[in-house]
Amino acid sequence: MRKAFVIGWPISHSKSPLLHRFWLDQYEIEGAYEAVAVAPDNFTTHMTNFADFGFVGGNITIPHKEAAFEFIRHKDEAANMIGAINTVWLDGETLRGTNTDAYGFSANLDDGFPRWRDGKTALVLGAGGASRAIIFALIEAGFTDIQIANRTLERAKELASRFGPKTSAHSLRAVPELLRDTDLLINTTSMGMEGVEATFPFDLSNLPASAIVTDIVYTPLQTPILKAAERLGVETVDGLGMLLHQAVPGFEKWFGRQPTVTPELRQHILDAL
Ligand code: ATR
Repeated sequence: MRKAFVIGWPISHSKSPLLHRFWLDQYEIEGAYEAVAVAPDNFTTHMTNFADFGFVGGNITIPHKEAAFEFIRHKDEAANMIGAINTVWLDGETLRGTNTDAYGFSANLDDGFPRWRDGKTALVLGAGGASRAIIFALIEAGFTDIQIANRTLERAKELASRFGPKTSAHSLRAVPELLRDTDLLINTTSMGMEGVEATFPFDLSNLPASAIVTDIVYTPLQTPILKAAERLGVETVDGLGMLLHQAVPGFEKWFGRQPTVTPELRQHILDAL
């Protein structure tokens, strides 16, 4: 039986077991997906020995994604540009790693709003790990003007120098003006997450009517920024789809079948949120 893991510290909150077990059941695959709590001190031991416990690979979540990037030698361009690894698998004897967040972001928009790829100008709020994945996805999708706005301007500047001339760094104060030219607005910050902020601190009224607004936060599903966009009649995409889609490449590597993101899967995860 093929077995995959998700490791994190803590790990109990992870939705990944629900998701992968749904697909294992749906496709009647004799496999297992197990959540394993791995403390930072035990990360290297787990990564060195997991095959001995019957695992073919797995997901890596907080706080191990950067450690995985350092640990794994064979990684693809997405992993290198994002600087973090969330999915690993054994290719024969070789341990490989990637980061599927950029794929998940793009596949989610492709699913609901394929016209997002016609956009040229994006405004990304935030400059953390999630922001890096999304900037990589935007460049791959052909965006030529990616504005990164962050509370700490220095972090936005670091990302702009990492990703080059298609990106620019801004403070949050610049957001109202930047909105005027924005085809796609993405919140990657924890602003609006449950328990963090009840309101979204920007007036979105400068957004073009044709813009698309998305958030990577999915608790709550309708975040303050998405609500504000809806009030303006702008199209919105919630963050749950990215979580579902980013799981697809891992499942395919470990279990040999490309799974489909369906409304039933979405409801299954929603029921557990
Ligand atoms: P992740 O890896 O999930 O992106 P992160 O690296 O901790 O997480 O980044 C969190 C992002 O949310 C950062 O851009 C952070 O801004 P700073 O770089 O200034 O810290 C942003 N953020 C968090 N709380 C915020 C708040 N209350 N207002 C504005 N930005 C916030």
